Amino acid sequence: MDYLEITGPTKLSGSIAIAGAKNAALPLLTLTLLAKNEVTITNLPQVVDIKTLLKLLGNLGATYTRNEGTLKISTLNVNSTTATYDIVKTMRASVLVLGPLLSRFGHCEVSLPGGCAIGQRPIDLHIKALEEMGAHIDIQAGYVKATAPNGLKGAHIIFDKITVTGTANIVMAAALAHGVTTITNAALEPEVVQVCEVLNASGLRIEGIGTSELIIHGNGGELIDMVDFAVIPDRIEAGTYLCAGAITQSTITLTNVRHDHIGAILAKLTQMGFGLDLKPNTVTLSPAKTIKPVSIVTQEFPAFPTDMQAQFLALSIFANGASTIEERLFENRFMHVSELQRLGANIQLHGNTATVYGPTPLNGTDVMATDLRASSALVLAALSANGVTNVHRIYHLDRGYEKLEEKLRALGANIVRKKEGL
Ligand code: EPZ
Repeated sequence: MDYLEITGPTKLSGSIAIAGAKNAALPLLTLTLLAKNEVTITNLPQVVDIKTLLKLLGNLGATYTRNEGTLKISTLNVNSTTATYDIVKTMRASVLVLGPLLSRFGHCEVSLPGGCAIGQRPIDLHIKALEEMGAHIDIQAGYVKATAPNGLKGAHIIFDKITVTGTANIVMAAALAHGVTTITNAALEPEVVQVCEVLNASGLRIEGIGTSELIIHGNGGELIDMVDFAVIPDRIEAGTYLCAGAITQSTITLTNVRHDHIGAILAKLTQMGFGLDLKPNTVTLSPAKTIKPVSIVTQEFPAFPTDMQAQFLALSIFANGASTIEERLFENRFMHVSELQRLGANIQLHGNTATVYGPTPLNGTDVMATDLRASSALVLAALSANGVTNVHRIYHLDRGYEKLEEKLRALGANIVRKKEGL
């Protein structure tokens, strides 16, 4: 197992390019299960979660060639409809094969994802919506066994809660369904928008893209002549590096960013006193005169993303005053708090709200990563802590951040990947 040794405090400078979005690439890869042609995808992030999903698609019978960020994939020879436990247990997003496999083949078996480090994360809303589209679903021996022998039927789905992968799954299921599916309370996340845009560009008709009501005109079961596309930039990676610049009071530039996807993140950085200079596809962050405390509530897009909560929590350790951070999406997404306390942070947790009293100097020590974004918060804190911080269990980071230490080193960070026990 690897760990990161980070020596701080550091000043960063320079420019790095943001990769394609992991959370867009995952549904876009499963979307290719609906294609009748080979699809070329560019700007695909080189992270472990993408490798895992490609392994799953390969197990189903998909063939592909990959050259760094470019993938050519064909799912025409897919002959298995089972997503097995050994893969789903390592990545919950595997559940994104459920909608496309069921709508294409009329049956599939997908292992039920178990619990998760950030919360229970059930998939009841995906299942209920598919049932409303005529699927018969049994949960047997830890598997979702779904059948729809005569295909799925258009329906009016009203999601009780906004769900990102749930919306993507139902959009993909509805694409090959008979008739029109309306999704009310659909997710507005850019990752869902791109799935709809690729389908529209490929000849399917989806109305209301980017709104909470999507109307999908199903094509009755024909495979789709799918366009080639580039994955949108990763808004969470961009936000994480902006926090790296902020926590080290540095000037850094990010390229390959979409300003319209990071509005809530930019707004909070501005409120905290940081300078932001926006040029097309580029953002430059500069230091704050004094870092002001912040008040954050995580919500669905376009509000502040839960996937940036941990990073801003780390940043607010250096603010002058008390910041409050309320987590509304996941019931257990504060595992980083006790690790940040080990570095010296003064944080109090009351239910789903963290109050961070700053500024507090941090001192390097050993800390443990618990999930993807919690891990990046520890790396950020380490950049400004005094001395050496060892961040263990970084396989979480490798799931979602492309070349993290290379990029941080390019900005001037003192960060080295090492093997445990050597
Ligand atoms: C996506 O997860 C992202 N993952 C998560 O990113 C992100 O944190 C989350 O959306 C929220 O933005 C991917 O896109 C692969 P949800 P998802 O369904 O779709 C509840 C990261 O770090 N819910 O929108 O699984 C659920 O428990 C990851 O990159 C149900 O109750 O999240 C949560 O409280 C972590 N029943 C809320 O809805 C359901 O059937 C929102 O979850 C589905 C969800």
